Amino acid sequence: MRNLETTYLGLPIKNPIVVGSSGLASTIGGIKKLAKAGAAAIVLKSVFEEEIKAEAEQTIGQQLGMDDNNLEFYDYYDYQVKNEVLENYVSLIREAKESVDIPIIASINCSSYSEWVSFAHKIEEAGADAIELNIFKLPFGIKEEAGEIEKVYFDIVRKVKERLSIPVGIKLAPYFTNLGNVIHRLSHSGINGLILFNRFTSVDYDIENDQVITGKVYSNADDYVNSLRWISIASSQAGCDLVASTGIQDYRAMVKMLMAGASSVEVVSAIYKEGAEVIGAMLKELDAWMVRRGVNSINEFKGRLSQGASANPEVFERVQFMRYFSGHKH
Ligand SMILES: Cc1cc2nc3c(=O)[nH]c(=O)nc-3n(C[C@H](O)[C@H](O)[C@H](O)COP(=O)(O)O)c2cc1C
Repeated sequence: MRNLETTYLGLPIKNPIVVGSSGLASTIGGIKKLAKAGAAAIVLKSVFEEEIKAEAEQTIGQQLGMDDNNLEFYDYYDYQVKNEVLENYVSLIREAKESVDIPIIASINCSSYSEWVSFAHKIEEAGADAIELNIFKLPFGIKEEAGEIEKVYFDIVRKVKERLSIPVGIKLAPYFTNLGNVIHRLSHSGINGLILFNRFTSVDYDIENDQVITGKVYSNADDYVNSLRWISIASSQAGCDLVASTGIQDYRAMVKMLMAGASSVEVVSAIYKEGAEVIGAMLKELDAWMVRRGVNSINEFKGRLSQGASANPEVFERVQFMRYFSGHKH
């Protein structure tokens, strides 16, 4: 094997494949299996802000009343975790750290800065190597301006970085008015990595039974292209590690992301669809590609095809089909 070492949220990892947050890593059995299959790091299933909020309300809410003015107090209040979900999460981190020798990353889904920051302390104490924050709130309020929504991200980063010493990564959705600007500014905000991008559940219709149903759960093998474009555009000026996520299902998509300037990739759907063995297969093929292309380490080709390194940077900004393409014959 060539040297596959790289980084994830600034942490050194043995190869570029990180298992993204999902039910795959919600038990010790699952975590051991993924580690044995060759994963370089594992992001645990997320805990949701709502779960932490419910716990905090139960534990200390009665003393305070639940208005926003108490948020600073929550930051410093060392409450005992009593909720079963959260207790289990802390135990999962401890046990995972004892069971495998790769970085274990905790994950919190949140849409605001609130009580969950106190719980993040517990995660740090339990031994998590880093924390990934999946921040998103569907901006359906028509009176809320883009700038107000973006500000929430920066407020969260500032407060979390003040209080935690482990690396912090932010998993972003691609839905911003000026996505490139938000990626650039967040990457220089003191965080250790940006995961581009999260993929959401969607709604769909069953038109035979007039029902609203959940859309497709897993990504497709060609869903990686939006992440590829934005990592290519952002990587040469980013202030932290960029991690590719969504649609990375074979070694080719992984190589492309590294060439675009990602330091590592997160994989979920491919493991659900093909089993943990897909990790080893992707690594073997990455190695074979490196031999074929005469490169000895990830750093040798990381960012080679980013917009910053390109002789033809305009191609990354082209989104409309020109007449030339419209004439394409099937
Ligand atoms: C079954 C399933 C469960 C997931 N659970 C979470 C979760 O708890 N937290 C999270 O941040 N992302 C979650 N995700 C999103 C994945 O981490 C990932 O961002 C997304 O699936 C895109 O990557 P992929 O194309 O490799 O699947 C989940 C995805 C799937 C398919």
